[in-house]
Amino acid sequence: MLLKSFFTLTTVLASIVARPSPGPDHTTGISKRGNPGANHTIVPSALFEFPNPTWLENFAVRPNGQLVITLITSPEIYLFDPITSGPPVKLFTIPQYLALLGIVEYTPDIYYFVAGNFTSPNTPESSGIGSYSIFKIDLRTDSMPHAPTKIIDIPESAFLNGLEVLSVEDGLLIVADSGLGLVWKVDIFKRSYEVFIDVPEMKIGPNAKIQLGINGIHIKNEFLYFTSMAQELFCRAQLTRDDSQYIIGEIETIATGIFGDDFTLDRFGNAWITQDPMDQLTLVIGDGVRKGEVITVAGAQNIETVAGGTRSGFGRTEQDKDILYVVTNGGIAAPVNGVVEGGKVLAFNTYGYLAGILG
Ligand SMILES: *[C@@H]1O[C@H](CO)[C@@H](O)[C@H](O)[C@H]1NC(C)=O
Ligand SMILES: *[C@@H]1O[C@H](CO)[C@@H](O)[C@H](O)[C@H]1NC(C)=O
Repeated sequence: MLLKSFFTLTTVLASIVARPSPGPDHTTGISKRGNPGANHTIVPSALFEFPNPTWLENFAVRPNGQLVITLITSPEIYLFDPITSGPPVKLFTIPQYLALLGIVEYTPDIYYFVAGNFTSPNTPESSGIGSYSIFKIDLRTDSMPHAPTKIIDIPESAFLNGLEVLSVEDGLLIVADSGLGLVWKVDIFKRSYEVFIDVPEMKIGPNAKIQLGINGIHIKNEFLYFTSMAQELFCRAQLTRDDSQYIIGEIETIATGIFGDDFTLDRFGNAWITQDPMDQLTLVIGDGVRKGEVITVAGAQNIETVAGGTRSGFGRTEQDKDILYVVTNGGIAAPVNGVVEGGKVLAFNTYGYLAGILG
């Protein structure tokens, strides 16, 4: 049944995203896809392909270099070692849910992740409205880890997606709600939650082609960055702390025309964004005189190189710190020329790349 609903979703999304660019958006005045960006291509290597169909949704990189990957096509967590590229190992299934989404490392080798009944973003029901929870998994053991534990249900949420740590000392996570177009703050000490950021840039907006607002969210160097899918925005806002309050500054749009799923920030604050239905890996320069410049690193719509990329992240060992890993859903959300492949783990060698384009 699930599979069937995926293919329905697939067809719907394909027709949604295949339409030509609509030109200026009359609600925001922002020109959509106005900036095609320069191409500076890195050819990835495919480290592993899961069975078809498998939607790899998100991952965190362990201190030992392994990837902890969440799936949407089944509520499962896999471990994958990108250095040996041996077959992934299924760690856990969370049977009370249909899908797992955002995952973040909290303290070394302890992770939180999102579980919910997402099958497609088309309607509130299919996106799992009211079904979402946050779980914890502790991998600080060499033997088989304990099953993930549920930390909190967030029944008022509509569609929880990207997850990030706001403060370890205060026990705070933030989670993007792609359905409501806002960010929740979750207190894992008190097991409570509240709306943290609710701004127009995160909303789905009227006449949206896709029912997804804010998607990925990350904090780096005192800024909070996010992708907003329906509005095709990549934004940031200053994040400051005043006593126990966290305060968000004005929202700054860094780039438009970005159909961004999740992403990762490098140490300079540049964003490596997977544009899931556009089959692209895109770099947005985060600071300096070239801030906001959009560079296509790999792929193009309906080219299979990065078919359905959902999340990127850099390696953490000396051996792979310049390797950017990308997981994909194989085009489930928007088949590449009508074809879906198994979700993949791709590796992009970025050594010398930024120096090469920024000089
Ligand atoms: C980048 O490559 C894509 C796919 O090959 C192409 O459609 C696009 O025109 C290129 N963009 C530029 C600025 O060269
Ligand atoms: C989520 O889906 C599971 C499996 O179908 C079901 O048992 C559960 O009741 C659903 N949860 C909610 C809150 O709808």
